[in-house]
Amino acid sequence: MAVRVAATLRLADLMGDRAVGVDELAEESNTDPGALERLLRHLVAHGLFAEPTPGEFSVNETAALLLSTDPAGMREALDLEGFGGRMDVAFTGLLHTVRTGQPAWETVFGAPFWQYLDDNPRISESFDAMMAASPEFLADAAGGYDWAELSHVVDVGGGTGALLAEILQTGPELRGTLVDLPETIGRARELMASRGLADRCEFAGQSFFDPLPTGGDAYVLGRVVHDWDDEQAVAILRRCAEAAAERGRVVVIETHGGAGDNPAAFAEMSLRMLVIAGGRERTVDSYRALAAAAGLQVENVSSTPLGHVIFDCVRVSG
Ligand SMILES: C[S@@+](CC[C@H](N)C(=O)[O-])C[C@H]1O[C@@H](n2cnc3c(N)ncnc32)[C@H](O)[C@@H]1O
Repeated sequence: MAVRVAATLRLADLMGDRAVGVDELAEESNTDPGALERLLRHLVAHGLFAEPTPGEFSVNETAALLLSTDPAGMREALDLEGFGGRMDVAFTGLLHTVRTGQPAWETVFGAPFWQYLDDNPRISESFDAMMAASPEFLADAAGGYDWAELSHVVDVGGGTGALLAEILQTGPELRGTLVDLPETIGRARELMASRGLADRCEFAGQSFFDPLPTGGDAYVLGRVVHDWDDEQAVAILRRCAEAAAERGRVVVIETHGGAGDNPAAFAEMSLRMLVIAGGRERTVDSYRALAAAAGLQVENVSSTPLGHVIFDCVRVSG
């Protein structure tokens, strides 16, 4: 928690490349000088930050990882006032989750996860930004499917459009529709415009539990199904199946399709999804069963170079 507080207060950024007295740091971080000094001494004792002269603190090699400019993005991930830190705090409700089988988010923060994001635009923005800032997922997922045969891709729960942008860049003729909640769609318009794709993309600010825009020849669900329990996952897949109609496809992209060669990551993420929103990680067979319950048939399952899994589904006729 001490590290998270240091990250949240941007102490490394405030120090930059100089040793800074605790009073100045307290003023700049709007904190109590005595409490801040105790926090920093505790961190220094563990090798994070240095105290070159008594009462003055500076960034050492480890604390440099907390600079906002560090490419690993650790400061943002640990920020208690952003999505990353909130997600960690949700785990203080793990006992409740294990006793009841219900997500901890509501007991810790007073509202279910998606409702909470809707009520807290700053955290919602931070969530969207974290989703959009996963180049290892986005490029890999977009490169893992042959979009060339398609003309209109509908990305359902597509966030601010980072994946759809990658997909549209695979072919100049490809058009897209981005479906997500209205707040997120507001931010998506900016992202698509900044990538020069605004004229090839339509936007639908709506719930994916409601009827989806028709006319697409592929309905993509990227990292969406694992957010939900089976009943809700089937409901979302069914909306995609309805909109895809006879000739469309439903393309489900997930980080895991089973424990595979990284059982620790699969187990951790499956617990995380439950604690946050009541979702889960699933095996390939479980995804097949969900698809079948939604009137879809999985025609092909493929793995991307980085191990993400793509289910290519069509509607079961009749
Ligand atoms: C885990 S994020 C995945 C975002 C994106 N597909 C990606 O892979 O980066 C889940 C997305 O579902 C959206 N979402 C949640 N509930 C929704 C609902 N009822 N209707 C539409 N979108 C929803 C969220 O706003 C979020 O953008």
